[in-house]
Amino acid sequence: MSQIPELNNAIRLAAHLIKNSQHIVVLTGAGVSKESGVPTFRDTMDGLWAKYDPQQLATPQAFQANPKLVWDWYEFRREIVRKAQPNPGHFALAELEKRFPSLEVITQNVDDLHEQAGSKNVIHLHGSIAQSKCFYNCQGNPTLIDFSRIDWDKTSGPPPCPHCGRWVRPNVVWFGEILPKAQLEAASQASSTCDVMIVVGTSGLVSPAAQLPDIAKHARATIIEVNPDITPITRLADIKLEGASGVMLPQVLEVLSNER
Ligand code: OAD
Repeated sequence: MSQIPELNNAIRLAAHLIKNSQHIVVLTGAGVSKESGVPTFRDTMDGLWAKYDPQQLATPQAFQANPKLVWDWYEFRREIVRKAQPNPGHFALAELEKRFPSLEVITQNVDDLHEQAGSKNVIHLHGSIAQSKCFYNCQGNPTLIDFSRIDWDKTSGPPPCPHCGRWVRPNVVWFGEILPKAQLEAASQASSTCDVMIVVGTSGLVSPAAQLPDIAKHARATIIEVNPDITPITRLADIKLEGASGVMLPQVLEVLSNER
């Protein structure tokens, strides 16, 4: 446990509420993968990419204006994600799901670190960086493409769609795009029926994911926020665990284990 009495009390209270809950929803953002080495969207980027703002690159307009730049940036991110391993925060959430099988994870992350850690009930709101699709979804939405099977000049930008010859792009949701309908409906449904929502590592700035804690609060759920910083979610939170998720979540689990 930590050296700070208020934080210890908050961890104990969070564990107590989780223990007595019926339906837990965990909303995660980039912060939960930070300790796995995946940079968040608010971090300044290193090296070659330092002069770019991720929010300016992750848009359909940026891709149309400069497909090679955006494709290369995603190649860079894909490589980081491919090498990343789940951290103690991901493992703690997977362990919580074993103890509370109705627990659902709603993630804005495009990595699969929750699944790698063992989480089974995961709703991906923003797609998957490991997948690619035709920019025009020429065969239906989404037209997924395995680009490892395409032979193209990798220095020229994105591969061509094998169906229509136009661009392949990552299967992620970009700024200004609509979220996948089924996933958004499942996330809204889960948020409106949970009695505890744990909000981990999200800045709460990007909608509609940022609205899910409001839905849960409206349905009288208890909100537990895990984040070292203050966010717009903080004002809704009944309990704030101010620290890194890889530190806070295992401590909640430890208290739960000791209470058994
Ligand atoms: P952000 O990068 O906006 O915010 C990350 C949050 O994680 C911040 O509030 C940090 O304080 C917090 N954080 C940092 N380190 C942490 C740690 N070790 N443990 C816990 N929290 C930590 O990421 P998201 O909120 O996920 O969307 O961003 C939402 C969406 O905006 C992303 O999915 C992406 C984006 O731009 C699209 O690409 C559509």
